[in-house]
Amino acid sequence: MNQTLERWSSRRAFILAVTGAAVGLGNIWRFPYITGENGGAAFLLIYIGFVVLLGLPVMMAEILVGRAGRSSPMLSLGKLARQAGRSEHWRWLGLFGAFTVFCILSFYSVVSGWAMDFMVTAFSGGFQGMSADQVGAGFGDFLANPLRMAMDHTLFLVLTMLVVAAGVSKGLERLNNLLMPALYLLLFVLAGHAISMDGFGPALEWLFTPDFSAVTPMVFIHAMGHAFFTLAVGACALMAYGAYMPDHQSLPGAAAAVAILDVIVALLAGIAIFSVVFTQGMDPGEGPGLMFITLPVAFADLPFGAFWLGLFFLLLVLATWTSSINLAEPIVATLIGWGMTRRRAALVTGVCVWLVGMLCVLSFSTLSDFHVLGSMNFFDVVSTIPPEIFLPLGGLLIAIFAAWVMPEQEALRALDAGPNGFRLWRIVLRWISIPLVIVVLISGLV
Ligand code: PHE
Ligand code: NA
Repeated sequence: MNQTLERWSSRRAFILAVTGAAVGLGNIWRFPYITGENGGAAFLLIYIGFVVLLGLPVMMAEILVGRAGRSSPMLSLGKLARQAGRSEHWRWLGLFGAFTVFCILSFYSVVSGWAMDFMVTAFSGGFQGMSADQVGAGFGDFLANPLRMAMDHTLFLVLTMLVVAAGVSKGLERLNNLLMPALYLLLFVLAGHAISMDGFGPALEWLFTPDFSAVTPMVFIHAMGHAFFTLAVGACALMAYGAYMPDHQSLPGAAAAVAILDVIVALLAGIAIFSVVFTQGMDPGEGPGLMFITLPVAFADLPFGAFWLGLFFLLLVLATWTSSINLAEPIVATLIGWGMTRRRAALVTGVCVWLVGMLCVLSFSTLSDFHVLGSMNFFDVVSTIPPEIFLPLGGLLIAIFAAWVMPEQEALRALDAGPNGFRLWRIVLRWISIPLVIVVLISGLV
């Protein structure tokens, strides 16, 4: 079974696909607001440190397992564990990954739906001339309207699953080839536009002048979770993509390229967004509403504001689409591994994610006071626990698997960086990344 997995057509296609997965809500929506909430530059530095010490080595581990196993995450893990004479229970890690992306996709699709909806409103000038209070109230009305949000969520999920159903080369690769260059172009235009704004200087200063007095253990937890989330690491989603990676290409270079691009996109998006925020003298610590409230307000009285605002949401839509297809892939691959056709697997995944996503939609109206955990409602839970706990935990287990469990020869071959590159990677993984995740997770929990 699974001997005929499709492959990415080239190294470029693979890098585009993984960057497409990495660049998403994490960079454009979550990075600015989470940096705003956690004090700016100090958070930024810690997050970049985690990207280098954790995100990158674990990303290589994850892709490498997929590449060595050449099956769905669950089957790959089971097969490699068996080859090494270890317990096949490792395959459950693949199921845990599928569960994690399932949770993430259910809120991801809802927020991406907002972006699509706001894009249309913005381009049609719907936010022009509104005061801050009006925009805030408008966002409130929007969230309280489950029917409209449900339609947005449904449309976005259909678009996602259609691409996934079309397969690796005809669906995933094609979409990434099409959208990623457009995304870069758009980002440069938006960041370039920011240079001319009064808030550009203050934005840079705020993003790059660290104040470590506000740093607490929770800041480390947020930064670690964000490093995993933004790189798409820890949920076996890149493991699924790794299974389609052609032979004879070195993995570390590709992974480093993706990590660097991902950080650059976050920084450019941050600069673009905070320049607008500071130009209008608004609050960078606004929270999840940062993009959806602050930006429409900020652009409401700028020249050609409707156009620029529309471009921002278009950027977000392009980015989330290429990420959501990656989020769906491990679930679909798992079902295919159990013998389903790709189309049926995409349909089943879409329906299940849609249902759970509806609970996220309703979390802003009917179910807003339905507290699932402490004071958190359903949306709060699925949008914080999987990124901040499941991803680091999954990443930790993937790292342990790659560094200590799977056959060394297989790992060496799949990393494709020569014996010295392999040794260096494994030393970093064993003695830096793995202990670091454990320490941060434990310190955050106590
Ligand atoms: N990296 C994506 C983002 O930044 C989210 C994601 C997480 C995608 C986990 C796949 C797996 O938005
Ligand atoms: Na990202």
